Amino acid sequence: MTIQWFPGHMAKARRQVTEKLKLVDIVIELVDARIPLSSRNPMIEEIIGQKPRLVLLNKADMADTNRTNQWIAYFKEQGITALAVNAQAGKGLQVIVQAAKEILKDKFDRMKSRGMRPRAIRAMIVGIPNVGKSTLINRLAKKNIAKTGNTPGVTKAQQWIKVGKELELLDTPGILWPKFEDPKVGYKLALTGAIKDTILNLQDIAVYGLRFLAEHYPERLEERYGLEEISEEVVDSFDKIGAKRGCLMAGGEVNYDKTSEIIVRDIRNVQLGPMTFDFIGEAEKDSE
Ligand code: G4P
Repeated sequence: MTIQWFPGHMAKARRQVTEKLKLVDIVIELVDARIPLSSRNPMIEEIIGQKPRLVLLNKADMADTNRTNQWIAYFKEQGITALAVNAQAGKGLQVIVQAAKEILKDKFDRMKSRGMRPRAIRAMIVGIPNVGKSTLINRLAKKNIAKTGNTPGVTKAQQWIKVGKELELLDTPGILWPKFEDPKVGYKLALTGAIKDTILNLQDIAVYGLRFLAEHYPERLEERYGLEEISEEVVDSFDKIGAKRGCLMAGGEVNYDKTSEIIVRDIRNVQLGPMTFDFIGEAEKDSE
């Protein structure tokens, strides 16, 4: 998967989402439960305007359950329904239709009172690359829909996928882009696999990951790498992990690139356990 970060590309993506918005009653915004804030497009409110929205915190299996619940409560305070799901295993999906019906109840009641025939709710999925949009669409469709959404220039006719009798879903998701001018957001996106390592410096990503773990999940560092703490000189920790994992160069020196790769891969593949990198406090700071 490649992401191009040109403003022109973003403008095009935005136009495509705006076009499709006209066709639907509700937007299903998919975010990564590990980074419910950093995996959102910061302009989402502006892009979707008044359109009703359901937020799905996907990959809930990889996130810290306590924090996921805190995020759901946070969204609720903002008047937004959010649900934790695991698109890969198909967990939590059965409540999506119910939640969409509740959000749209007034609109559909009004349509009914005007004598309009009842119809299925029309929805589209939006989200940044890699949050699980295709996985979710395939799960809901109960079949494999070709993934064309991430390939610029590939267009095909929009198709509606029936999800039971009450929901119809556009088969191509709206692709948004994350904002990663803040290096911290970039590191979190890299540690969760939303962006490639090559966009940022691998060692910087690993250092961020280690420091984050030391602050929030220190016991896991000890379990996995035998580290009791991360010293001020983070290089000492790299030396220990590198030596323990056999990342040595000829002459016995630790290969920091290889060690960084292991650390990043371990975090990304949940080898250090489920964790959440975004905190509610950060969202509140942003909205001040
Ligand atoms: P996108 O359309 O938004 O770009 O994302 P996509 O569905 O391609 O999903 C990206 C990766 O995330 C896939 O893994 C997918 O299997 C995984 N994924 C999606 N939802 C979940 C979830 O709820 N939990 C977990 N653990 N993983 C999820 P991949 O390694 O790129 O491919 P593959 O492993 O499916 O072959």
